[in-house]
Amino acid sequence: MTTTPFTILQTSCAEETEALGRRLAALLPPGAVVTLYGNLGAGKTVLARGIARGLGVAEPVTSPTFAIVQEYRAPGGRWFYHLDLYRIRDDSDALAFGIEEYLFNPAAVTVVEWPERIPGLLADTGPDGMPACNLLFPVHIDSLDETRRRFRIPAMPG
Ligand SMILES: Nc1ncnc2c1ncn2[C@@H]1O[C@H](COP(=O)(O)OP(=O)(O)OP(=O)(O)O)[C@@H](O)[C@H]1O
Ligand SMILES: [Mg+2]
Repeated sequence: MTTTPFTILQTSCAEETEALGRRLAALLPPGAVVTLYGNLGAGKTVLARGIARGLGVAEPVTSPTFAIVQEYRAPGGRWFYHLDLYRIRDDSDALAFGIEEYLFNPAAVTVVEWPERIPGLLADTGPDGMPACNLLFPVHIDSLDETRRRFRIPAMPG
Protein backbone atom coordinates (compact mmCIF):
# COMPACT_ATOMS: atom_id res chain seq x y z
CA MET A 1 0.00 0.00 0.00
CA THR A 2 1.29 3.45 -0.87
CA THR A 3 0.67 6.54 1.18
CA THR A 4 -0.45 9.71 -0.56
CA PRO A 5 1.20 12.85 0.73
CA PHE A 6 -1.26 15.51 1.73
CA THR A 7 -1.41 19.02 3.09
CA ILE A 8 -3.37 20.19 6.11
CA LEU A 9 -4.76 23.72 5.94
CA GLN A 10 -7.09 25.66 8.22
CA THR A 11 -9.54 28.47 7.49
CA SER A 12 -11.34 30.77 9.92
CA CYS A 13 -14.29 31.99 7.85
CA ALA A 14 -16.23 31.22 4.69
CA GLU A 15 -14.31 33.85 2.70
CA GLU A 16 -11.02 32.11 3.49
CA THR A 17 -12.48 28.79 2.38
CA GLU A 18 -13.64 30.31 -0.88
CA ALA A 19 -10.16 31.76 -1.41
CA LEU A 20 -8.70 28.31 -0.77
CA GLY A 21 -10.99 26.94 -3.46
CA ARG A 22 -9.75 29.55 -5.91
CA ARG A 23 -6.14 28.56 -5.21
CA LEU A 24 -6.96 24.88 -5.58
CA ALA A 25 -8.61 25.46 -8.94
CA ALA A 26 -5.32 26.66 -10.40
CA LEU A 27 -3.76 23.26 -9.59
CA LEU A 28 -6.51 21.07 -11.01
CA PRO A 29 -5.94 19.48 -14.41
CA PRO A 30 -8.84 19.04 -16.84
CA GLY A 31 -10.66 15.82 -15.97
CA ALA A 32 -10.06 16.26 -12.24
CA VAL A 33 -12.76 14.98 -9.90
CA VAL A 34 -12.62 16.66 -6.48
CA THR A 35 -14.51 14.69 -3.85
CA LEU A 36 -15.48 16.70 -0.76
CA TYR A 37 -15.90 14.70 2.45
CA GLY A 38 -17.38 16.57 5.39
CA ASN A 39 -20.48 16.94 7.54
CA LEU A 40 -23.51 19.11 6.89
CA GLY A 41 -22.35 22.71 6.96
CA ALA A 42 -18.65 21.81 6.76
CA GLY A 43 -18.18 24.21 3.85
CA LYS A 44 -18.23 21.89 0.84
CA THR A 45 -20.40 24.23 -1.20
CA VAL A 46 -18.33 27.24 -0.17
CA LEU A 47 -15.16 25.46 -1.35
CA ALA A 48 -16.89 24.40 -4.57
CA ARG A 49 -17.86 28.02 -5.21
CA GLY A 50 -14.22 29.06 -4.79
CA ILE A 51 -13.09 26.37 -7.23
CA ALA A 52 -15.69 27.60 -9.74
CA ARG A 53 -14.45 31.18 -9.34
CA GLY A 54 -10.87 30.02 -9.81
CA LEU A 55 -11.88 28.32 -13.05
CA GLY A 56 -13.41 31.57 -14.26
CA VAL A 57 -17.08 30.75 -13.66
CA ALA A 58 -18.81 34.07 -12.94
CA GLU A 59 -22.39 32.84 -12.38
CA PRO A 60 -23.77 32.36 -8.87
CA VAL A 61 -22.81 28.92 -7.52
CA THR A 62 -25.41 27.50 -5.17
CA SER A 63 -25.97 24.08 -3.69
CA PRO A 64 -27.39 21.60 -6.22
CA THR A 65 -28.97 19.42 -3.51
CA PHE A 66 -32.33 19.16 -5.26
CA ALA A 67 -31.04 19.26 -8.84
CA ILE A 68 -28.17 16.86 -7.94
CA VAL A 69 -26.00 18.49 -10.61
CA GLN A 70 -25.34 22.00 -11.85
CA GLU A 71 -23.35 22.51 -15.03
CA TYR A 72 -21.34 25.68 -15.57
CA ARG A 73 -19.41 26.77 -18.63
CA ALA A 74 -15.89 27.85 -17.88
CA PRO A 75 -13.67 29.86 -20.22
CA GLY A 76 -11.82 27.96 -22.96
CA GLY A 77 -14.60 25.47 -23.71
CA ARG A 78 -14.20 23.86 -20.30
CA TRP A 79 -16.96 22.78 -17.95
CA PHE A 80 -17.36 22.92 -14.21
CA TYR A 81 -19.75 20.31 -12.84
CA HIS A 82 -21.02 20.58 -9.28
CA LEU A 83 -22.65 17.42 -7.93
CA ASP A 84 -24.44 17.04 -4.61
CA LEU A 85 -25.20 13.37 -4.00
CA TYR A 86 -26.96 13.88 -0.67
CA ARG A 87 -30.20 12.56 -2.14
CA ILE A 88 -28.58 9.74 -4.10
CA ARG A 89 -28.75 6.39 -2.34
CA ASP A 90 -25.92 4.37 -3.83
CA ASP A 91 -23.78 3.55 -6.86
CA SER A 92 -26.61 2.11 -8.93
CA ASP A 93 -28.82 5.09 -8.17
CA ALA A 94 -26.02 7.34 -9.41
CA LEU A 95 -25.49 5.27 -12.57
CA ALA A 96 -29.22 5.44 -13.31
CA PHE A 97 -28.91 9.19 -13.08
CA GLY A 98 -26.04 9.17 -15.61
CA ILE A 99 -23.19 10.11 -13.33
CA GLU A 100 -20.46 8.73 -15.65
CA GLU A 101 -20.88 11.75 -17.89
CA TYR A 102 -19.74 13.94 -15.01
CA LEU A 103 -17.06 11.69 -13.53
CA PHE A 104 -15.28 10.89 -16.79
CA ASN A 105 -15.44 14.09 -18.85
CA PRO A 106 -11.82 14.99 -19.70
CA ALA A 107 -12.83 18.59 -20.49
CA ALA A 108 -14.44 19.19 -17.11
CA VAL A 109 -13.50 19.78 -13.53
CA THR A 110 -16.09 18.05 -11.34
CA VAL A 111 -16.70 18.66 -7.65
CA VAL A 112 -18.68 16.02 -5.76
CA GLU A 113 -20.39 16.69 -2.43
CA TRP A 114 -21.39 13.57 -0.45
CA PRO A 115 -19.06 11.20 -2.35
CA GLU A 116 -19.70 8.71 0.48
CA ARG A 117 -22.83 7.74 -1.45
CA ILE A 118 -20.87 6.19 -4.33
CA PRO A 119 -17.92 4.29 -2.84
CA GLY A 120 -17.89 1.71 -5.65
CA LEU A 121 -17.73 4.30 -8.41
CA LEU A 122 -14.85 6.08 -6.72
CA ALA A 123 -12.87 2.93 -5.90
CA ASP A 124 -9.66 1.95 -7.67
CA THR A 125 -11.51 -0.45 -9.94
CA GLY A 126 -14.90 0.57 -11.22
CA PRO A 127 -17.89 -1.80 -11.24
CA ASP A 128 -18.70 -3.81 -14.37
CA GLY A 129 -15.26 -3.21 -15.84
CA MET A 130 -15.88 0.51 -15.95
CA PRO A 131 -12.60 2.43 -15.91
CA ALA A 132 -11.70 3.80 -12.52
CA CYS A 133 -11.76 7.51 -12.07
CA ASN A 134 -8.01 8.19 -12.17
CA LEU A 135 -7.91 11.91 -11.51
CA LEU A 136 -9.44 11.88 -8.05
CA PHE A 137 -8.60 14.60 -5.53
CA PRO A 138 -10.24 13.68 -2.23
CA VAL A 139 -10.55 16.60 0.17
CA HIS A 140 -11.58 15.99 3.78
CA ILE A 141 -13.09 18.82 5.81
CA ASP A 142 -13.39 18.83 9.61
CA SER A 143 -15.41 21.44 11.49
CA LEU A 144 -13.33 22.47 14.51
CA ASP A 145 -15.93 24.94 15.79
CA GLU A 146 -18.47 27.42 14.39
CA THR A 147 -16.04 29.04 11.99
CA ARG A 148 -12.79 27.10 11.89
CA ARG A 149 -12.42 24.34 9.32
CA ARG A 150 -9.52 21.97 8.74
CA PHE A 151 -8.83 20.72 5.22
CA ARG A 152 -6.84 17.65 4.23
CA ILE A 153 -5.86 18.09 0.62
CA PRO A 154 -3.83 15.67 -1.50
CA ALA A 155 -0.49 16.90 -2.77
CA MET A 156 -1.01 18.28 -6.25
CA PRO A 157 1.27 17.60 -9.20
CA GLY A 158 3.47 20.56 -10.12
N1 LIG B 1 -14.28 28.48 7.72
C1 LIG B 1 -15.44 28.31 7.07
N2 LIG B 1 -15.44 27.74 5.84
C2 LIG B 1 -16.60 27.53 5.19
N3 LIG B 1 -17.81 27.84 5.66
C3 LIG B 1 -17.87 28.41 6.87
C4 LIG B 1 -16.70 28.68 7.62
N4 LIG B 1 -17.05 29.26 8.80
C5 LIG B 1 -18.38 29.35 8.77
N5 LIG B 1 -18.89 28.86 7.63
C6 LIG B 1 -20.32 28.76 7.30
O1 LIG B 1 -20.64 27.38 7.26
C7 LIG B 1 -21.60 27.16 6.25
C8 LIG B 1 -21.06 26.17 5.22
O2 LIG B 1 -22.10 25.89 4.33
P1 LIG B 1 -21.96 24.96 3.07
O3 LIG B 1 -23.26 25.04 2.36
O4 LIG B 1 -20.73 25.30 2.29
O5 LIG B 1 -21.77 23.52 3.74
P2 LIG B 1 -21.83 22.11 3.03
O6 LIG B 1 -20.67 21.34 3.54
O7 LIG B 1 -21.95 22.29 1.57
O8 LIG B 1 -23.16 21.50 3.64
P3 LIG B 1 -24.21 20.46 3.00
O9 LIG B 1 -23.74 19.09 3.41
O10 LIG B 1 -25.50 20.81 3.62
O11 LIG B 1 -24.19 20.62 1.51
C9 LIG B 1 -21.93 28.50 5.62
O12 LIG B 1 -23.06 29.03 6.26
C10 LIG B 1 -20.68 29.32 5.95
O13 LIG B 1 -20.94 30.70 6.01
MG1 LIG C 1 -23.35 21.70 0.17
